[in-house]
Amino acid sequence: RIVHVILSGGVGSRLWPVSRKSMPKQYIPMFGEKSLFQLTAERSKSLVDQTLIVGNKDNYLLSQADLLRAGVGNFTEIIEAAPRNTAAAIAFAALAVQPDDILLVTPSDHIITDEKAYEAALTESIELAKQGYLVTFGITPIKPETGYGYIEYNGNEVISFREKPDATTAQSFLDAGNFLWNSGMFCFQAGTFLAELEAFEPEILEKSKTCFACRAESFLPELETSQIPSKSIDYAVMERSSKIRVVQARFGWSDLGSFESIWEHWEGQGETQHFKNNNCVVGSKKHVEFLGVDNLVLVETEDAILVLSKNNSQDVKKIYERLEVEK
Ligand code: GDD
Ligand code: MG
Repeated sequence: RIVHVILSGGVGSRLWPVSRKSMPKQYIPMFGEKSLFQLTAERSKSLVDQTLIVGNKDNYLLSQADLLRAGVGNFTEIIEAAPRNTAAAIAFAALAVQPDDILLVTPSDHIITDEKAYEAALTESIELAKQGYLVTFGITPIKPETGYGYIEYNGNEVISFREKPDATTAQSFLDAGNFLWNSGMFCFQAGTFLAELEAFEPEILEKSKTCFACRAESFLPELETSQIPSKSIDYAVMERSSKIRVVQARFGWSDLGSFESIWEHWEGQGETQHFKNNNCVVGSKKHVEFLGVDNLVLVETEDAILVLSKNNSQDVKKIYERLEVEK
């Protein structure tokens, strides 16, 4: 069986004020009528046997509504009491299925274009997963982005996996020419992942197991959750395992993590209506003009305005965090 695991733990804090804790970016119909979550569920619907959501108690109703809109009838949910990062979130999914079930793990908030190429990549990854590999999907890098993982590759083989390098290292990866970005999507047999987690992070596995065993229906318990070390799959497993393989993605991909990536996405799609004198407007229904400035993003929602330099896109998270504390 092939199970699509949708991770929906994040709040999209770098997209504040568009993305909010009560309405994270994956549930907002940002591009057209459908939310990113709905598009994610629809994209894989016909290619998998089951859909499994790992989300949290603030958003599981939003997930359910989007799954219905996407026409996904056969889904299960695992509802986290608190986020403990992706190693644990994926461990819960792996524990919920049979060891030889194949998990296709994807975020809920990425944009993917060219469904045919997506399907082809999936078929290739499933074959590798059946052979006992942990499969990543690699994207051709276009700049020395420090927020991504990098995959040093040779064909499908992975020489090394490096999560979030500093700017100099990222540039050296681009110069080397044999690195791909990690898209944050994975494909493997549940049992393969659990065995590798046991080898490298036995504490995460043990505590995730304890937590999962104490669940009440779909809900994971708070106390046992708080005991689990918080680490991403990238640091916990991908950087260390020798069973990694990569499938080069021929599809268009954006993680839409920041206003800078929205800018690039729109630019790439030729959506010139969002731009004015090399500035970008997000969400505003007003007439906006810019004078004597460039590289700015103006973001407007009903109750907030944010103006930032595109280069500071990663720091929006800090505003979100400050507001969270002040609340
Ligand atoms: N359920 C659940 N619980 N989901 C989570 C949790 C959690 O505790 N933590 C994160 N997620 C979800 C996020 O919502 C997102 O969809 C996905 O898992 C990845 O987490 P991010 O926090 O967005 O990771 P990242 O962007 O720093 O890095 C990852 O993605 C990059 C590509 O977008 C890594 O895999 C990088 O290597 C990769 O390049
Ligand atoms: Mg991300």
